Amino acid sequence: MGAAHVPVLLEEVANSLVSGNDKLFIDATVGGGGHSSYLLGKYPGLNMIGLDMDDDALAIARDRLKGFEGRVMLIRGNFKDLREVLGSVDVLSFDTILFDLGFSTFQMGGGRGFSFNDDTFLDMRMDDRQPLTAYDVVNSYGYEALKKVITEYGEDYRAARIARAIMEERRKRPISTAKELSTIVLKAIKKTGRVHPATKTFQAIRIEVNGELDNIRSGLADAIDMVHSTGRIGVISFHSLEDRIVKEMFRMSSLLNVITKKPIRPGRPEILANPRARSAKLRVAEKK
Ligand SMILES: C[S@@+](CC[C@H](N)C(=O)[O-])C[C@H]1O[C@@H](n2cnc3c(N)ncnc32)[C@H](O)[C@@H]1O
Repeated sequence: MGAAHVPVLLEEVANSLVSGNDKLFIDATVGGGGHSSYLLGKYPGLNMIGLDMDDDALAIARDRLKGFEGRVMLIRGNFKDLREVLGSVDVLSFDTILFDLGFSTFQMGGGRGFSFNDDTFLDMRMDDRQPLTAYDVVNSYGYEALKKVITEYGEDYRAARIARAIMEERRKRPISTAKELSTIVLKAIKKTGRVHPATKTFQAIRIEVNGELDNIRSGLADAIDMVHSTGRIGVISFHSLEDRIVKEMFRMSSLLNVITKKPIRPGRPEILANPRARSAKLRVAEKK
């Protein structure tokens, strides 16, 4: 397992999302339990239910939250099925919910194909019970489908060139590791600047494998329905595709007042201490 996950915008979440009167907080992406442990510590009257579709994440969260026994319930599940997952433990409503989107540091460093240098199987699943892997996408999607994924989910204007290079390489032999994939992309397009040329391709394939954008649409729709009146929904996103969906769903819902007209961003000290925070945006809305 890789490095520990540092939660982003901790104080901002605690101050803009949760109030001292809240009884039930849903952490839709409990991950390493960073946000949850902070909130449980700060608000003694708060109970929480934490969801994650990654069993490794839940094991870390369980350990991190063991000091709050009796106030914590952890469930393996996908927040896209929020209503069903919470319904399975007879929860029909709650005071507040946080979605801290994307993946954790320990998933990135866990040899699961999320990282350019991973010499292990090209997996990228957050939930290892689901059938589709990054290997399947890279080795079995046709040219048009690959190009579409890289264009739409990576917003990479070089998608055609990258898809062509993948098609050519896999004719010789299957592309089996993340390192092989990043090397192919690196060869296909020139390196400009400090960002690895395969960054957008990896983001695109990860989104496709985990159905990330559909998960957000479905999970947020359930959250908007289920949260109590005056309860709050907070979403931390890490790229524009996610943020656009959140912004639009908040704006379009007649059930919500948007609290953050502009998203809350981390300050410079946080970015210096945790570079992953650089692209984080927190949006908060309150149920009418
Ligand atoms: C950025 S991390 C959360 C970190 C957490 N807030 C903390 O402080 O440790 C995102 C987590 O959400 C999980 N995740 C992503 N999409 C999910 C989904 N649709 N349903 C459930 N869990 C999901 C990932 O497995 C990962 O553990």
